[in-house]
Amino acid sequence: GAALATTSMFAQAVEPEYTIGFSQIGAESEWRTANTNDVKAAAVKHNIDLKFSDAQQKQENQIKAIRTFIAQKVDLIGFVPIVATGWDNILREAKRAKIPVMIMDRDLTVSDDSLYVAKIGTDSYAEGRKAFDWIDNYVTQNNLKPRNGGDKLNIVILEGTVGASAATGRSHGFDDALNESPNKGRYNILASQTGDFTRAKGQEVMESFLKSYRDDIDILFSQNDDMALGAIQAIEAAGLKPSKDIVIVGCDAVKGMFQAMIDGKANATVECNPLQGDLFFTTAKKILKGEPVEKSVYVDEGVFDTTNAKEAFATRQY
Ligand code: AHR
Repeated sequence: GAALATTSMFAQAVEPEYTIGFSQIGAESEWRTANTNDVKAAAVKHNIDLKFSDAQQKQENQIKAIRTFIAQKVDLIGFVPIVATGWDNILREAKRAKIPVMIMDRDLTVSDDSLYVAKIGTDSYAEGRKAFDWIDNYVTQNNLKPRNGGDKLNIVILEGTVGASAATGRSHGFDDALNESPNKGRYNILASQTGDFTRAKGQEVMESFLKSYRDDIDILFSQNDDMALGAIQAIEAAGLKPSKDIVIVGCDAVKGMFQAMIDGKANATVECNPLQGDLFFTTAKKILKGEPVEKSVYVDEGVFDTTNAKEAFATRQY
């Protein structure tokens, strides 16, 4: 009797409340790994049967995964749009099947906003603005002068995945803040190219920037920390001092970048918070229970630099 009761109580406790399909874009960065781990842990905490699919950086794989989730009749579908466009058709299929869709992390552009129920993520445009504002402050406070003796500080940019909101948003935010700055005339954008949000590509593109402009580059804005960490290797290999000869600002605030700041090899990073799993499943459950939710929510994000990196490092979760 007792044994039976225990078994059925146990069975009840582990019976998942809902089945949710989730299409992640891949594992391109330290940030992405933290995001995936957080989604998986939050699914367990929320008692969700999670069908997780890794698209290996291909939109077509995400579309296939979403189509499979529809065929499996999951309760809800979540995905991170690798790029902003090209989702209308598959989202219409989900809508026809009456399966609610939620967006995580990156933004998307669809012809009809009712194709998804809710979006939670990060404000890339604000991140880009924060990156420029940090640079502008630093330059002013330190009276930074162009290394080549010219009259403008030369900035190079490592962009993220082409067409990803995390890349275009950061570019627009950075450009707008630069153009609105009273110090606008101090800066020149010397080169800007995608490094696909990866360390290897960040290193490779920085090597090519250095080949052309070794003695002209004053500032690097890297649209994620992984590319910045790759670039640091390229800068050292070129015989220059990262953070001193070239000011380095990244995005994400991952542990690797904190270590680089503590080691004196990077200057600042604009946080992009990957810990979105709890809010994602809380929102998903509300949707599935027919409760109202906000259409769009951005998570909180700070800025870290060498003045507070050491203190903050101790409590970082990713
Ligand atoms: O969409 C968020 C971005 O994607 C992060 O900045 C980057 O590291 C990740 O790959």
